[in-house]
Amino acid sequence: MKLNQEELKQILAGKFIGHHLHYYEEIGSTNDEAFRLGLAGAPEGTVLIADRQTAGRGRMQRSWHSPDETNIYNSIILRPEIELAKAPQISILAGVAVAEVLNDYCPDKVKLKWPNDVLIDRKKVCGILPQVKTSANAVNFIVLGIGINVNINNNQFPDEIRDLATSLVIETGNEISRLELIISLYENLTKWYKQLLKKGFGSIREKWLSLTPMIGQTVQVMFYEETVSGQAIGLDEDGSLILLTEE
Ligand code: BTN
Repeated sequence: MKLNQEELKQILAGKFIGHHLHYYEEIGSTNDEAFRLGLAGAPEGTVLIADRQTAGRGRMQRSWHSPDETNIYNSIILRPEIELAKAPQISILAGVAVAEVLNDYCPDKVKLKWPNDVLIDRKKVCGILPQVKTSANAVNFIVLGIGINVNINNNQFPDEIRDLATSLVIETGNEISRLELIISLYENLTKWYKQLLKKGFGSIREKWLSLTPMIGQTVQVMFYEETVSGQAIGLDEDGSLILLTEE
């Protein structure tokens, strides 16, 4: 079934995130279109939601599997007045907000992997793709692209990710209302975003640390051109993972 865009618009009218809602039955990538709208001056809190993406994008130039009417594909435009160095805080914040909401469906099972992969039993249930438009040394706007595997079954994943991905229906055995999940997600994102703007990064950092099993573990961090390994010992004020390496 398609998302009921009229109902969504009604419920989100006047809300900080979602007051401007663009719904698409099909789109290339909600992130690409959100970036275009951001450049054209779309207000903070504008959201784009699609029932399917034909060119869904993931991090590290990967694609994001986006079949019809099963999952959540959405992008949110934020315009925080922060310096560029603090932009990764928003990315960490998004992971925290998603993980907290998904834990309502799968109590205590949802974990975070730096910077913001959302996992259940080490399998990915949600991916987040932040894109920042800068102006001088500050943030002009941020597009937060969030893809959540909701009602997709294991046999609908492509072979290459079948063992690496999961969904809420796989984990709970119950079909989940995407509409209700979107509403809860936007409420929770709003809560953490306002917290960040008013009180800073501290409690987001604490929450992230409470949701990750990485601290104390030896991990490998992949960049485009190198991989660094070391023991994860903390999360820095700017959202960086702190690694203890041999050097
Ligand atoms: C990742 O690789 O972990 C990030 C995946 C992000 C996927 C979402 S789905 C909605 C938005 N539009 C895109 O093209 N990508 C993001």
